[in-house]
Amino acid sequence: SDINLQEIHDFLVEIAKKAGEMITAAHPTIGATGNKKNSVDLVTETDQAVEKLISTELQSKYPSFSFMGEETYKPGDTLTDAPTFIVDPIDGTTNFVHSNPYVSSSLGVAINKKPVIGVIYNPFTQILYSAIKGKGAYMNLTEKLPFRQPESLADGLSKAQVAVEWGSDRSGNDLAVKSQTFLKLTSSKEEGGAMVHSLRSYGGAALNLCGVAAGHLDAYWEAGCWAWDVCAGWVVLSEAGGIMVDANPGNWDPRIEERRYLAVRGGEGQKEFVEEFWGYVQGKFEVG
Ligand code: IPD
Repeated sequence: SDINLQEIHDFLVEIAKKAGEMITAAHPTIGATGNKKNSVDLVTETDQAVEKLISTELQSKYPSFSFMGEETYKPGDTLTDAPTFIVDPIDGTTNFVHSNPYVSSSLGVAINKKPVIGVIYNPFTQILYSAIKGKGAYMNLTEKLPFRQPESLADGLSKAQVAVEWGSDRSGNDLAVKSQTFLKLTSSKEEGGAMVHSLRSYGGAALNLCGVAAGHLDAYWEAGCWAWDVCAGWVVLSEAGGIMVDANPGNWDPRIEERRYLAVRGGEGQKEFVEEFWGYVQGKFEVG
């Protein structure tokens, strides 16, 4: 096609830096957060202002592209085959309001519903992760990922560092699915668990995916992610040799049920690792 992915990528990098200036200049307070569905699903004025900045810039340069953003998404909106910017202005909003620097802007592009460009920028550490489908994944545009040439994954979960997130669904079945899965992953072999080396919960889906891409996390699992949480990171991950395994293969429309995502880094034994992992996922998560 005549879509120039490199040019779009470069523009997204520019926009991500502008968004970063706005994010680091803001002084959010815990008291000033609106909330979306409950007291832990936070949104600040900065989230909304940053999304506005990003969508305005993107729509003026690429008026024919569709746009899907966390702050303007409405239930029922659907991802189409059209070239679409899929954007989370601030991924890690809870960290942001607590001045925890594990925060990023996540700017992705999907064409025919397939993620093809990912730009993720943490303005506090000034670390940028980016990738174009077929062109490799990079940190700060020059350092090729993964950093750590990973050993085999064949030793399985018991040698793994795994990220999970609690997310904002904190009741009933959804909380039960997550906490039972976490318990299985951490408990001992004698109790039927994987006893992973460590379970981490950093609070940002996009940066977690970059961590798996870089190789310092072996896997990341979450039930409840949205398209904007995963689109950009998906490209970075897969260009670094990792894989994203969806509970609903081939369909990651925001409306799909479950929205479970498992990211596994590159390396020998990936398939077996994924199979072992699915054995520890307890129950079915429902769309919140
Ligand atoms: C959230 C964060 C969080 C994850 C949620 C995401 P937000 O994004 O990535 O770690 O658990 O699923 O929605 O709300 O901070 O943009």
